[in-house]
Amino acid sequence: MTDYNSIKEYLRNTLSANRYMHSENTAITAERLAKNYGVDSQKAYIAGLIHDCTRELEIGTQQEMLRSLRKQVDELTYHIKELLHAHTAEYLIVDQFGINDEEIISAVRFHTTGKENMTMLEKILFLSDVVEPSRNFPGADYIRQLSMENIDEALLAAFDSSIRFLIGKRSLIHPNTFIARNYILGQFKE
Ligand SMILES: [Fe+2]
Ligand SMILES: [Fe+2]
Repeated sequence: MTDYNSIKEYLRNTLSANRYMHSENTAITAERLAKNYGVDSQKAYIAGLIHDCTRELEIGTQQEMLRSLRKQVDELTYHIKELLHAHTAEYLIVDQFGINDEEIISAVRFHTTGKENMTMLEKILFLSDVVEPSRNFPGADYIRQLSMENIDEALLAAFDSSIRFLIGKRSLIHPNTFIARNYILGQFKE
């Protein structure tokens, strides 16, 4: 299927050493979670590897990529690099890496915010990004352990942690994160 080595070489040459390490860690974590939950582990690995491929590009470069993709995003996403890179990654995923898998692209697209009714691959990538071994924020170990036991409880804990962190920084919070969290809580009540 996909040539991991050429993707890795591209990422090693374009990302900072830390971000590259985070990408590899996320790939390995995603692969492990996928195996644990019976999801395609190759897709999970690739999604993890490439999820931050545009994270370090200038916002203007990313906005141009979005135009080339003929995609539109909401105002908040358009102006915030931390959000926008999830949407512009598709530009490199398709053009540079030759990956056209809609499941992978969608997992990458929602890896920063989450969304309503996430697929298993979307959940796995979101969590892997949060709990890969180099993450050590308060509560990381708890979510890491939970991620192998109950993916929805882990996801809920990850949303809560992310919302708390963003409030602490007085950051804007994308509504999809609240929508994703509400959806999971709604499912627990059913
Ligand atoms: Fe990211
Ligand atoms: Fe990431």
